[in-house]
Amino acid sequence: MSGMGTAKKIQTTTDVLSILTTQHEEVDQLFEKIETGKGDRSALFLELADKLAAHASVEEKIFYPAVMGKQTDEQLHEAVEEHLQVKRLIADMIALDVESDEFKAKLSVLKEDVSHHAHKEEEDKLFPIVRRNLSEDELAALGNEVLATFEKLLPTHPHKMVPSETKKAAPLPPSA
Ligand SMILES: [Fe+2]
Repeated sequence: MSGMGTAKKIQTTTDVLSILTTQHEEVDQLFEKIETGKGDRSALFLELADKLAAHASVEEKIFYPAVMGKQTDEQLHEAVEEHLQVKRLIADMIALDVESDEFKAKLSVLKEDVSHHAHKEEEDKLFPIVRRNLSEDELAALGNEVLATFEKLLPTHPHKMVPSETKKAAPLPPSA
């Protein structure tokens, strides 16, 4: 029986909702680092842009399609539009001097947008719906896929893809 308990514990660590929430927290910390002005601002911004781009990509390609049609549709359509706004800001910021007033203003808007999207929309609204509608095994399997893809994507500097993703929100599959 103790073996079963251990197996269950390992599964819950890949719960996709915990993984995505942890990624949100890492992003919060990066915003703080950039704002407090410690370290190389432009390197920190690119790290932030890479993490946001990889995070948006795994959500749009893996997580959102997997949870579509489970009383989530309205939230998901709003989510991809919020991602689009975030990508447009990032694309603008990549072209700016990190010490300029324009960059700093956009950074502050980006932080507000990301925080609203991650905490108010996803963690407070979408994730509880997903938690009610998917089994623990489904959440764990999704978590494994999200984590593996995120880690593969991150070293490819995914911020470079962002300027090409600013025309239209990422497509969602038709509702089941
Ligand atoms: Fe998101």
